[in-house]
Amino acid sequence: MSALNEICYFIASMTFVIGLRMMGNPKTARKGNLIGAAGMLVAIIGTVLFHKGEVPFIIYFLIGFSILIGTLIGWFTARKVAMTKMPELVSLFNGMGGACAALISLVEYPHLSNQTGSLIAVLAGLIIGSVSFSGSIIAFLKLNGTMSKAIRIPSSNIFNTALMLVTIGVATVIVLNPGFNTLPVVYCLLLLSLLYGVFFVIPIGGADMPVVISLLNSFTGLAAAFGGFLYGNKAMLTGGILVGSAGTLLTVIMCKAMNRSLSSVIFGAFGGNSAGLGKTSEGGTVKDIQVTDLSILMNYSKKVIIVPGYGLAVAQAQHVIHEIELLLESRGVEVKYAIHPVAGRMPGHMNVLLAESSVDYSKLSEMEEINPEFASTDVVLVVGANDVVNPAAKNDPSSPIYGMPILDVENATHVIVNKRSMNAGYAGIENELFYNNKTSMLFGDAKSVLTALVNELKAL
Ligand code: TAP
Repeated sequence: MSALNEICYFIASMTFVIGLRMMGNPKTARKGNLIGAAGMLVAIIGTVLFHKGEVPFIIYFLIGFSILIGTLIGWFTARKVAMTKMPELVSLFNGMGGACAALISLVEYPHLSNQTGSLIAVLAGLIIGSVSFSGSIIAFLKLNGTMSKAIRIPSSNIFNTALMLVTIGVATVIVLNPGFNTLPVVYCLLLLSLLYGVFFVIPIGGADMPVVISLLNSFTGLAAAFGGFLYGNKAMLTGGILVGSAGTLLTVIMCKAMNRSLSSVIFGAFGGNSAGLGKTSEGGTVKDIQVTDLSILMNYSKKVIIVPGYGLAVAQAQHVIHEIELLLESRGVEVKYAIHPVAGRMPGHMNVLLAESSVDYSKLSEMEEINPEFASTDVVLVVGANDVVNPAAKNDPSSPIYGMPILDVENATHVIVNKRSMNAGYAGIENELFYNNKTSMLFGDAKSVLTALVNELKAL
């Protein structure tokens, strides 16, 4: 490896660390992402131009052509995708990363199969990359609705554990026994790993999919790190380790936000076929409210808290809600946003959405911080949120979301819930909040209803 090559990898590794650090804050996140991407470009240029050894020109052509196709596909998909479809895109991109790691192992296997250390790295990259690839594709199919959210296979946990043990067993035999160290056996290992990825994700419930994606993301990082170890490529090693550890941390944070252990995510089926589970609110009455009355109620309030959810993103009502915030503030009303850690469909979804409409970041309050404030709040406006304000998480042990921390909106004086119907949210369960005496439903698409509310507020 040339000195220039090493310098490029060093610069790339630095940008990955700095970029990741900057992504921790919404104000610097965009710049952090660009810095990380620029570092990746430096690493690619360093690898292609300064790598020692003669390479035929056609290889440079093929690399350039592949980079062009990859860049175009990545650029157009990322530009076109709706924010609500981001988890699907992340799982697809993650799957591609896993496939790359597995392909590197397959390509390098014939050259390194006699060196035990390298062989272990090749097989580990192959297994983990393949599991990540097939698992991510199944996660993608579930998130876009092609595949039913959770498919229960009888004794799936036993079957999956057996499949995992067989896969690890075959890899161990390849390493320990030179007679089995052949390409067909390695292809068998590839097949077993792909199957494991499929069966690992198939039984997991839809609401747990983001946790699974970040777990698979950490697998991809680990597989890439094995590739870096194999080539002695420090940028690949650093990038892989960062992705692996960031994915693991995100998995832990999301499990904590839903008050679920990782084992219950993997071996349970929350959010899959859970519709109908938990108590129903049969016989309860639902009140509705019109925008004219709501505008008066809000205009003469001292404090209003807005709770954004997935429906706000679907309706693209982030700009209108910001307008309502500014109007109310101009009338002396204190306005805050309550952000639940899993509101929406991906981590930080609501923060990104509200940042798009220039809502001041200081107005967003995390769940633990805002929960004690609901009791002193006149009006809570819940916009397109459902599961994250469902009191069943506290009151109903039979509910699939029991134990998940929620926003205590029912403590406010008035609770207004905007959604289009009485339909359930992502977890597929009824919400007793809608039947609470303090609650009034504001039915309709968030954007149209909130636009009407803006007009009423302006007319006051
Ligand atoms: P949900 O519980 O999914 O509720 C969203 C509500 O928005 C629905 O009940 C829907 O009711 C309403 N809605 C849809 N389109 C609308 C529109 N155009 N205008 C007004 N309302 C609309 O959302 P949430 O409260 O944000 O909870 C998030 C859920 O997703 C949790 O179960 C969470 O575990 C899960 N999840 C979270 C993540 C992360 S990490 N954030 C990722 C995946 C899944 P109508 O159909 O009646 O309008």
